[in-house]
Amino acid sequence: MQSVIPVVLPEKSYEIAIAPGSVDRIGRLITDAETPLKLGQKILVVSNPTIFRCYGQRVVDSLTQAGFDVCRCILPAGERYKTLATLQKIYDAALENRLERSSTMVALGGGVIGDMTGFAAATWLRGINVVQVPTTLLAMVDAAIGGKTGVNHPRGKNLIGAFHQPRLVLIDPQVLKTLPMREFRAGMAEVIKYGSIWDANLFERLEQAARLDQLRYINDDLLQEILTRSCQAKAHVVSKDEKESGLREILNYGHTIGHAVESLTGYRVVNHGEAVAIGMVAVGQVAVEMGLWTQEESDRQLALIQKIGLPTRLPEGLDIEAIIHSLQSDKKVKAGQVRFVLPEGIGKAIVTDQVTPDTIRSVLQKM
Ligand code: NAD
Ligand code: GLY
Repeated sequence: MQSVIPVVLPEKSYEIAIAPGSVDRIGRLITDAETPLKLGQKILVVSNPTIFRCYGQRVVDSLTQAGFDVCRCILPAGERYKTLATLQKIYDAALENRLERSSTMVALGGGVIGDMTGFAAATWLRGINVVQVPTTLLAMVDAAIGGKTGVNHPRGKNLIGAFHQPRLVLIDPQVLKTLPMREFRAGMAEVIKYGSIWDANLFERLEQAARLDQLRYINDDLLQEILTRSCQAKAHVVSKDEKESGLREILNYGHTIGHAVESLTGYRVVNHGEAVAIGMVAVGQVAVEMGLWTQEESDRQLALIQKIGLPTRLPEGLDIEAIIHSLQSDKKVKAGQVRFVLPEGIGKAIVTDQVTPDTIRSVLQKM
């Protein structure tokens, strides 16, 4: 069971391969690819201690057996280390191991490792190869695809970055078995996002599943389908709008209010996926108020989010006026107008700057 999804771009198209067991076959998958990647000899595997302990040696062995000269760089784990200071450790490893223009960085990890490794690869020697091997559900369906890379500034998330597309995204669904349940649910929020804004069939498949709150209730076929459909949605959108000058904005569905909730609670109360879930519930209701979709459709989305076990209400004590104020500093504000992605029926979305603070206020007051 394997899916290959192309990401078609004007320059340097690439593939997303969803292949169970691929962590042990990465070397061969790179060298024997239908369109050879022609990567240089040297590969720097970047990971964190938790992930490297589970999968690192297998990746290193597979690459070594395929004839690559492999070195490693292990970074501290966590969003708080997604900084320029940590990036320096990747550059140091690149220097010590004499990475060249033809060399490759392999990002083995979740979105934090993927974003940092991608940015290091974008900037080392003005750009070398990067292969993304995502190990969280969120990174598999979102962060590893599409070339957004970067680190946080002390005063804002992902403010320093570059677009740098990977040469390959290699997804091994089996690594999700060790992923903590809360991280799994966070990734499922992004999966629901694709169902709500892009793929009504995916939305219905999720509705039909008996349980989705833990990975063990999802059989291999359904997991492969969830990954494939989500990656297809992301690949399609990125292919049409690589640098987010239009269509790609729809991927921010649930993120505008989500980011406000995340930052106002100091990134400690809810994680990214949980914040997106709350954001999707809110904009789902905004879309009802604006006559874009029906209450029934909004309720179906709410039920799906609840089925995963994701939060659907604002964290206790969060000030609604502070959320409305915080929306003004969102990265996506254009000419002073906050831009919202709103569903227009299940599987379809629009971007608008016509949502009034009063509408947001009245929706948030009920949450
Ligand atoms: P993460 O990278 O912090 O990983 C979450 C935790 O899971 C970490 O503690 C990690 O060590 C652990 N982990 C990862 N894989 C594991 C596995 N298979 N088994 C056991 N433990 C495992 O979190 P994330 O949700 O993957 O990524 C969040 C980051 O992604 C944020 O920094 C966000 O800004 C970024 N992001 C980027 C994009 C993009 O387009 N570039 C999109 C969405 C999110
Ligand atoms: N995660 C949103 C994007 O890649 O555009």
